[in-house]
Amino acid sequence: MDITFILQQSPFKLTLHLQGECGYRGERVVTKNGGGLGLQVQVLISKEEIAKRVKELGEQISNDFCDKDLIVVGILKGAVIFMSDLIREIAIPLEVDFMATSSYGQSTKTSGVVQLLKDLDTPIEGRDVLIVEDIIDSGLTLSYLSQLLQSRKPASIKTAVLLDKPDRRQTDFVPDYVGFSIPDQFVIGYGLDFNHKYRELPYIGVVNE
Ligand code: IMP
Ligand code: MG
Repeated sequence: MDITFILQQSPFKLTLHLQGECGYRGERVVTKNGGGLGLQVQVLISKEEIAKRVKELGEQISNDFCDKDLIVVGILKGAVIFMSDLIREIAIPLEVDFMATSSYGQSTKTSGVVQLLKDLDTPIEGRDVLIVEDIIDSGLTLSYLSQLLQSRKPASIKTAVLLDKPDRRQTDFVPDYVGFSIPDQFVIGYGLDFNHKYRELPYIGVVNE
């Protein structure tokens, strides 16, 4: 049996779709009172706004990489959702590969040290690389990865980020494609985690600490 509650309580909205015994389905908005998840979150960018912007980025990338040998490199784990939506909005042939880094541990602040946890499976010499990342914050991750990949002599390297927090930059790194510029607040959802959780939320939410 499906039970649907819709409560409207300004400024926080709670929409829960409960199905059988399997928990939440559909839109899951974590509310001021925790919404059962014990975290205070407000929606910053809705899933509709994300979809519209990802489509625009896909069109721009399709034009810019027309006739190029495109390899899209996703940075695990945060970029997986953005990347999977983005490549389906890119209308030219491409390959995908992944790298993984770590700089945060269980903190919401960067440790300042980027560790490579997983390297590419594919050689990139002479190819056109698009690094896809969930967010640029200090800029240390993208600056480290671009330098590492540059040493492998690709034809070109560009970077696409869903989110940019320009106020927190510690490097002069400038991404080529940016979905949204956001204020200096810790965000979750659409791939971004807090202590390994909340990546599955379909929107970008702000954690109130
Ligand atoms: P940077 O190296 O400081 O630019 O940080 C990049 C990485 O930090 C991203 O790939 C994210 O995994 C993580 N990060 C930065 N800000 C946030 C945030 O607000 N929420 C979740 N993860 C974040
Ligand atoms: Mg990341």
